[in-house]
Amino acid sequence: NSDVLILGVESSCDETSAAVLRNGQELLSHIISSQISTHQKYGGVVPEIASREHLLHFRGVVRQTLTEAGVNFSDLSGIAVTYGPGLVGSLLVGVAGAKAMAYAAGLPLIGINHLEGHIYANFLNTPDLTFPLLALLVSGGHTHLVYFEGHGHFQVLGHTRDDAAGEALDKIARALGLGYPGGPQIQKASLSGNPHAFEFPRAMLEPGSLDFSFSGMKSAVLNTLNSARMKGVELSVPDLAASFQQAVVDVLVRKALLALERTGAKTLVLAGGVAANALLRERLTAELLTKEIRFVYPPPILCTDNGAMIATAGYYHYLVRDFAPWNLNAIPGLNL
Ligand code: KG4
Ligand code: ZN
Repeated sequence: NSDVLILGVESSCDETSAAVLRNGQELLSHIISSQISTHQKYGGVVPEIASREHLLHFRGVVRQTLTEAGVNFSDLSGIAVTYGPGLVGSLLVGVAGAKAMAYAAGLPLIGINHLEGHIYANFLNTPDLTFPLLALLVSGGHTHLVYFEGHGHFQVLGHTRDDAAGEALDKIARALGLGYPGGPQIQKASLSGNPHAFEFPRAMLEPGSLDFSFSGMKSAVLNTLNSARMKGVELSVPDLAASFQQAVVDVLVRKALLALERTGAKTLVLAGGVAANALLRERLTAELLTKEIRFVYPPPILCTDNGAMIATAGYYHYLVRDFAPWNLNAIPGLNL
């Protein structure tokens, strides 16, 4: 049997997830155990609790994933696991678990960078993606523009100098009393708001820069909110949410267009939790329609953290026999 079967494991933040992927395309099973409801009462992810939850769920998630796929360890070709970036305690559960399984089953271990994993979610849906391509990666911890010339050959063109886009959305959602995680809440509240009610700044940095900065934009919203509160004025939460979402999306779209122009790439892929945002998808779709640029994005479930994207990235590492040593460690600050 020449099928390549990869078990992908993800535990970098608050999702324990595993997937079995056949030949880089066919998901045989995919389980995501989310801790969101556990962390919600704290308004964000509590690292200590997250690691303990991973410990509780890891074995069950992996077992169920293999059962649903109808495969045993001996059928697998390799085990891929996120080893960074992320919360160190959370990462360690996945890394130690994957190592133990791979060692016991005599399988190769494949270490995956979580950010690369997010981008590779696009290859699961669209295996005919062609290089060169540009990736806009927008998650809770990262905002990157990455130029790919081939599998494993990429260059970071720009990244955030302070807050990530998702982080800014989460913080504003919290200030508006919308709860955690903030991105989906901002999107929901925006539906009944006016995106032009407030003109928040769009931080573009130096002319031509492909870096991002969301901290000043975030402060502008907080200042508006605070000065109104001091005057005893209640501002419309939907209007604030819609105006901030509009500002964040504006910057992401403008920088992505600039990077496409600069690189000449004919394909844009979207990745990371914020890639689930409907306005961002709509705006880019509209902008790219007339430019003959192919625009690809994963379904929402593959935008936020999941094991399928790790299995997909793992498949491409497997093809070139890029395996990890047994002393693979969790690297919380791992970059692209
Ligand atoms: O990729 P991800 O699941 O975790 C990280 O690797 O960070 O991204 C989580 C981020 C959070 O900031 C969350 O608020 C945001 O993605 N997010 C969204 C949406 N869904 C998730 N932001 C905007 N609109 C959404 N629909
Ligand atoms: Zn992520």
